[in-house]
Amino acid sequence: MQERIVAMLIRASEKGQHYVSGGDMAKELGISRAAVWKYIESIRKDGGKVQAAPRRGYRLANPGDLLLEGAVQVETATIGRDYVYLSQVDSTNSEARRCIRAGCRDGLVIVGEDQTAGRGRMGRSWYSVPGKNLCFSVVLFPEGLPINQASLLTPLTAMAVYEAIVKVTGLPVELKWPNDLMLGGRKLGGILLEAGGETDRLRYAVIGVGINVNLAEVEIPDILADIATSLYLAGSKLVPRRYLLQEILISLDAYYEKHLTYGPGPMMAEYRRLCSTLGQRIEFLWQGQTMSGLATAIEADGGLVVRTSSNNTLILRSGDVHCL
Ligand code: BTN
Repeated sequence: MQERIVAMLIRASEKGQHYVSGGDMAKELGISRAAVWKYIESIRKDGGKVQAAPRRGYRLANPGDLLLEGAVQVETATIGRDYVYLSQVDSTNSEARRCIRAGCRDGLVIVGEDQTAGRGRMGRSWYSVPGKNLCFSVVLFPEGLPINQASLLTPLTAMAVYEAIVKVTGLPVELKWPNDLMLGGRKLGGILLEAGGETDRLRYAVIGVGINVNLAEVEIPDILADIATSLYLAGSKLVPRRYLLQEILISLDAYYEKHLTYGPGPMMAEYRRLCSTLGQRIEFLWQGQTMSGLATAIEADGGLVVRTSSNNTLILRSGDVHCL
């Protein structure tokens, strides 16, 4: 019921109608006005800024930012058909895996406002501030996708997020191999892919995405101060998180459908064009040793080809690289 009320408020704001009367809502939903009021209260608790005016009804003051169920609406083939908003969760990736075990559908999106144990790559934790960022995971059951193509879901997601951010903010996001979204040389977001399957068949993939959207300078902890940024800090404008999330889901769905239909070739060609690591001198860890070289190419499976200072060619499949 709450979801339907949120959807009504969003619809009204999108029509420029602003206020919806409590009586109209009660009639359409077949509940009492007192019940409508109760739901409005719980929407407020979940971050919905619902204003009430006598004789006019209710209106949402933050329609562009609300991530509640009913607010985020996308017409997609797979991604976002099912959508869950959690005001608090340990990690949306962990929750996604629990949902897989419980039998969820392909394309489920889980958004976490407050992640108490957000995870990054390589065992790191992921820092986020409730109400400011986007932290979400997408569950996929990519039937027919060979397991050796699972890692390509990372560049695919990076492309989709890139496209959506450019559309919503116009900011010049950079894609750093293998999973980083950067702005002005600082980290804006990252992707954590967790996949599972049998020897030759990918059974599931969980794509976790974290983006620093409206984080202010004072909200970035000292140890991240020189390496992290947000869309707000880079563009000096608050970014409506709901619009951004919707664009990401639409774009991700389109890339995913194209990937299933035409294979990874076209997406990887685009990724190579946009990946800012290519052509750069980089430093990386190789078998426990720090090495440097020139990033010369990206393989069809996403591996980064590096020509080392001693003229050897290595292919990195994972790990961190630092541009020199
Ligand atoms: C990285 O750059 O190391 C990847 C960061 C991924 C963070 C996101 S936030 C949503 C999802 N849930 C998690 O616990 N992690 C990912």
